[in-house]
Amino acid sequence: MNSSLFKKIALVLVAVLVVLQFVQPSKNEGSASGVNDITQAITVPASVQQTLEKSCYDCHSNHTTYPWYTKIQPIGLWMQYHVNEGKEELNFSEFKTYKLKRQAHKLEEIAEQVEEGEMPLSSFTLIHKDAILSDAQKGELISWAKENHLALKQKLEEENGSAPPPVEEGHEHHE
Ligand code: HEC
Repeated sequence: MNSSLFKKIALVLVAVLVVLQFVQPSKNEGSASGVNDITQAITVPASVQQTLEKSCYDCHSNHTTYPWYTKIQPIGLWMQYHVNEGKEELNFSEFKTYKLKRQAHKLEEIAEQVEEGEMPLSSFTLIHKDAILSDAQKGELISWAKENHLALKQKLEEENGSAPPPVEEGHEHHE
């Protein structure tokens, strides 16, 4: 590549970056807690809640705390993309609106994702060092998610069909 072509490409890139700064994605700055948040659906011990807020809520709730550098594009756009994707999959602020079956499934997924070290996303903990989960936090989060997954599953089974069949009139029998 000759150097004048290189300069042209560099100039175009700089121009694109400058223009990009005018693009500010809409922000996720609602309230994280409310009548439909997860604490209204299942019991969340204070320490688990703290872990969720610190390590998960930026992408899985209605409120993201934006660090200053997310004002710089394309960093902010990239962050917003993750927030949108994350919220769509799992939103702790809307957890109570999920059907029981979905709630149970999400809890199972939480245990799985944390166990496998998939969540929180490593691109996030790279910068948010305080979001890295200690082994103790992981253990607590996983057993809480598993316990509540099982409890909800049981509740579902009780609601669905495993109720005894109605007794027909005049056909009572003795065991
Ligand atoms: C930086 C943003 C970010 C953070 C922080 C984050 N997640 Fe996620 N999460 C995502 C995105 C994006 C997806 C969807 C795409 C994927 O699976 O990679 C996702 C998917 C998930 C899913 C899968 C849902 C499903 O049904 O498939 C679970 C469960 C989950 N996250 C749990 C957590 C937990 C628990 C934490 C905190 C310990 C956490 N996440 C932290 C962005 C994030």
